[in-house]
Amino acid sequence: MNLQGTTALVTGGGHRIGRALTLALAAAGCNIILHYNRSAEPARLTAAEAEALGARILLRQVDLSHLQDARPLFADLPPDFGPVQVLVNSAAIFPKDKLADLTLDGWSQTFRVNLRSPILLTQAFYLALPQELPGAVVNITDWRTERPYLTHFSYTVSKGALDAFTRTAAIQLAPRVRVNGIALGAILPPAGASEAYWQQVLATVPLQRGGGADVVGQTLLYLLGNDFITGEIIRLSGGAHLKQG
Ligand SMILES: NC(=O)c1ccc[n+]([C@@H]2O[C@H](COP(=O)([O-])OP(=O)(O)OC[C@H]3O[C@@H](n4cnc5c(N)ncnc54)[C@H](OP(=O)(O)O)[C@@H]3O)[C@@H](O)[C@H]2O)c1
Repeated sequence: MNLQGTTALVTGGGHRIGRALTLALAAAGCNIILHYNRSAEPARLTAAEAEALGARILLRQVDLSHLQDARPLFADLPPDFGPVQVLVNSAAIFPKDKLADLTLDGWSQTFRVNLRSPILLTQAFYLALPQELPGAVVNITDWRTERPYLTHFSYTVSKGALDAFTRTAAIQLAPRVRVNGIALGAILPPAGASEAYWQQVLATVPLQRGGGADVVGQTLLYLLGNDFITGEIIRLSGGAHLKQG
């Protein structure tokens, strides 16, 4: 897909990995609906950076845990925005929980943000996409669905379901819409994580470093630019998935 002049929606696009995704799309010539929830100021700063790259930005605040109907996000766009042809589902939460102490509220919150909202957004995106235009969805997931965390039960299960959704949507929405995923590993330390924790994580990475958010932006552009890839989930793990023991 030639991204120049197309419109993209990025969830959680205001900071950290979402910011890198927004800026990669801006540099590739997209106009962007930049979604955020609580991070209004980082979203505004990212919007200004993207505008400096030539993009037009529409900021949209939505708490995805309450999302019932995603259609309004794709409707009534400003005249200089085309129909949304790219959807990037990056917003997620990473709560600490275990099966033994799981609560229904905690489980529901994780699933509403990490799984239900990408599904509702993808459905609304597909229904709003004009018949003659191609589209692409990229879901941001986690390679640890293959080797589950001991401490993030609802997150790991929600991302595993997001992987299954990615493949299922790819087959259901072909040929017009491609659906792919990027399974992240040690890209950025979780917000609030100690340096000691991060060093412990990096010790499990064969490439012996964190990826940094820009590699996620590069991979997003690769997936969007290659029109023969669908139903694929690319690991950005620095080789951590190969590690024995
Ligand atoms: N960091 C890593 O190395 C790593 C590793 C594996 C996978 N990932 C995945 O990569 C993606 C981005 O990671 P990150 O580390 O940049 O995430 P993060 O810093 O924890 O930020 C989470 C993002 O999700 C949004 N969000 C959370 N709850 C929301 C809600 N109820 N409604 C709407 N938006 C909500 C936040 O928006 P606001 O701040 O505006 O509220 C924020 O933009 C996630 O899907 C994550 O699972 C990251």
